[in-house]
Order: sequence, then structure tokens, then C-alpha cells
Amino acid sequence: MLLVTFPVLPSVRSLIASHRQARFNETGQRLTRAALLQNAEGCDVLMVTVGDRMDAETIAALPASVRMIATYSVGYDHVDVAAAKARGIAVFNTPDVLTDATAETAMFLVLGAARRGNESLQLIHSRQWTGWTPVQLPGVQLSGKRMGVVGMGRIGQAIAARSAAFGMEIHYHNRRPLPQTEERGAKYHAQLDTMVPLCQFLMLACPLTPETHHLLNEERIANLPEGAIVVNIARGNVVKDDALIAALRSGKVRAAGLDVFTNEPNLDGRYYDLPNAFILPHIGSSTIEAREGMAAILLDGFDALERGQSATNRLA
Ligand code: DGY
Repeated sequence: MLLVTFPVLPSVRSLIASHRQARFNETGQRLTRAALLQNAEGCDVLMVTVGDRMDAETIAALPASVRMIATYSVGYDHVDVAAAKARGIAVFNTPDVLTDATAETAMFLVLGAARRGNESLQLIHSRQWTGWTPVQLPGVQLSGKRMGVVGMGRIGQAIAARSAAFGMEIHYHNRRPLPQTEERGAKYHAQLDTMVPLCQFLMLACPLTPETHHLLNEERIANLPEGAIVVNIARGNVVKDDALIAALRSGKVRAAGLDVFTNEPNLDGRYYDLPNAFILPHIGSSTIEAREGMAAILLDGFDALERGQSATNRLA
């Protein structure tokens, strides 16, 4: 029996149900820890997602029947993979299938920030627009600008390719350089701090880890070029909100495009009042194609495990 803790699209539900006997969370609410543990009784697979805290304590309390935890997300900072491994529970996530969707959202954020999407939408929806003028909401172009990508995994690379197609010069920071054939002209910086002063656009696309927590802080923002644009498609905690909000207010950072926030959905309320913050409700991977692909890759992973084969999306 498979427990699905979150709401799914009808096509995803059909896919899962045609593959395995499944118990779906029909409550319309996130399951509390107690409810998750109760619903997990008799299940061998748990399909969880962002917002389900699969920490060591929860994993220790899971029924003995649980053999696999699958997160319906590529990010897995909410799952204590080591604790699962120690209990002999396999862990899966959803790489690749959501890369294009997430990279497309990243470009939406880049354009929304650079072209004053928030102010433009407010102006037209307020019904107060008085007509075209040459001084109306001038933004900045992407072409000819430098973008620095932090985290050159699958999603970072897909964003870099799209940004290059807009005529941007790509720099990146990653733990390791990509093989030259995969760099497509992007310039590697082993040290983030040598890249930051070059970034007219800074794209955060790295996983949240203890090393990347508050990676964008006051010092790094001070080292950005004046009027840089910051985009976060990674996780909210990669950014120190106080630092970014102060920089958006002062104009040091011209605009930000943010899809992810600390303490979602209760993000720092100051973002709502910043005209230069183009904010989205964590829709990075939210396409029908990605959602269906995410279910399919997880189901494939379970099948592989049961056949004793390896799976590319197995984390433990
Ligand atoms: C992910 O997959 O990690 C996304 O952030 C959730 O859609």
C-alpha cells in the first residue's frame, strides 16, 4: 500500500492508482505528523512532498512496514536521508522531469523582475493606467548582461542555456566545474565571492544545505554591482530576508524575482509591499507535464527497487 500525503492532479491520481494500491489524503489539509504516522500504518511506500517534515524523529516513529519514502519534489532538504538510510528505508526524489518547468519559471522571474512585472500588473489591474508614455515603467534588458548562476546542476544548466539564448553572458559557481563540453561557454568560478561582483543578475539555483543557508547575506549583497537583479528559484532560506529587503528598499538591488520563501506560506510580509519584488507562490515545477512526470519517475523507482535494480532518482 502506498500513502500519498498531498493533493494530486486527476491524471496523476489515475497513474498512481493504476500502478499500486494507494491511500490518498482526501482532507484538503496537510497531514500533521500524528496523522501522517497513523495513515502510514500498513503502508510500504510513503509519497511525501515539500512541507512534510520527514526529520529523524518522524522517520524513527514510522511503522515497520515502511520500506520506501518518495518525495514528490527534486529538493529533499525536508527529508533526513541519513536517518532513513539508517533504518533501511530507500529514498527517492524527482530529478530531470521538472527541469524544464523550473527553468521556465526561473525565466519568468528574471523577466518579471527586469521588466517590472509587479508594478505593470498593478498598474493595469488598478484600472488607473492613463496610456502609453516613453517614461512608463522602464526596466532593464537581459541582452548583453552578465548572469551568475549559483548551483549548476540540471536546473542551473537549463536556466543558463535559456539565459544565453536571451543574449546573456553566463558565469557560474558550483562545487565542481562542469566538463568543458557541457559548459557551453559559461565561465566557472571556484569561489562564489569572485563571481558576485560581476553579477548584474544573480540566479540562485542551488540545493538548501548548511553551506548554502543564508548564502545571500549583507556582505554578498554589498559586493553585487549597483542595481543588480536577484532571482531565487532554490529555497527561501538561501536568502537572508533582512538583507535582501534592505537592498530592495535602498535600490542596491534593483529588483528581485522570488518563487520560494523562508517559512512558506507565511513569507516575510515586507515582500508584499515592495514594488520591485516580483513574487510567485512556489510554482517552479508546476506544470501538468512535470507533475505527471514526477509521479512516473517515482513509480519507476519503486519498480526498480523491487526488481533489485538501481534507479537514478534513488537518494538512499
Ligand atoms: C521541488 O521539486 O523541489 C520544488 O521546489 C517543489 O515543486
